[in-house]
Amino acid sequence: LEPRLKVIAIDGPSASGKGTVAARVANVLNRDYLDSGALYRLTALYARQQHINWQDESGVAVLAKNLPVIFHNECILLDSKDVTAEIRAEDIGMGASAVAALPAVRDALLQRQRNFLTSKGLVADGRDMATVVFPQAELKIFLTASATVRAQRRALQFGIANNGIEYQQILTDIEKRDQTDRTRLVAPLKPACDAKILDTSLLTIEESVEKVLDWYRKI
Ligand code: DC
Repeated sequence: LEPRLKVIAIDGPSASGKGTVAARVANVLNRDYLDSGALYRLTALYARQQHINWQDESGVAVLAKNLPVIFHNECILLDSKDVTAEIRAEDIGMGASAVAALPAVRDALLQRQRNFLTSKGLVADGRDMATVVFPQAELKIFLTASATVRAQRRALQFGIANNGIEYQQILTDIEKRDQTDRTRLVAPLKPACDAKILDTSLLTIEESVEKVLDWYRKI
């Protein structure tokens, strides 16, 4: 039997709230938090800055391997410049999704992600934390919510009403992204076979955090 790692892996679809839940769990347990999506976003941004095309697999992989990034408290510095807000932009999200589909890029980021684990322990957030990056995690959660609920949460974030065309667009986008994520060849979105499924459709953030901590106390 392989040794278990001091890692809580939280995977799941976009807009499921896994980032918020993972960060809070890390805080409560005084562990480090890995936002793996940020690494893909940083890679996309860095490629754009260096004029490397997002489809250029080997070019982007070299950048991914050498990302001059510093995570400091809540801030993310790329080449000493604060890019915390910039990497959340919609077009960088698209770029992240493009570069995340390239096997050489995933490979280049693999060791980097594993290096986030110290004796403090880690809460790791991303699509393939439990399946690929930390298969020996002591606790694996697949955090999800119905597409409708995720669309509603996103709409609330942007101050958009739960009816009307803008909301419909958000819902359509989420469904489309789910479909791409599940069916892509490289690291498709799927629960690890030993993951606990947490459907947060009817839960608040606090309740979701509590549920994860509950499972953690029982391991
Ligand atoms: O969670 P996010 O929106 O910040 O992720 C950005 C993109 O990176 C998204 O398209 C999914 C992808 N990603 C991935 O493929 N593997 C991860 N571990 C994390 C994110």
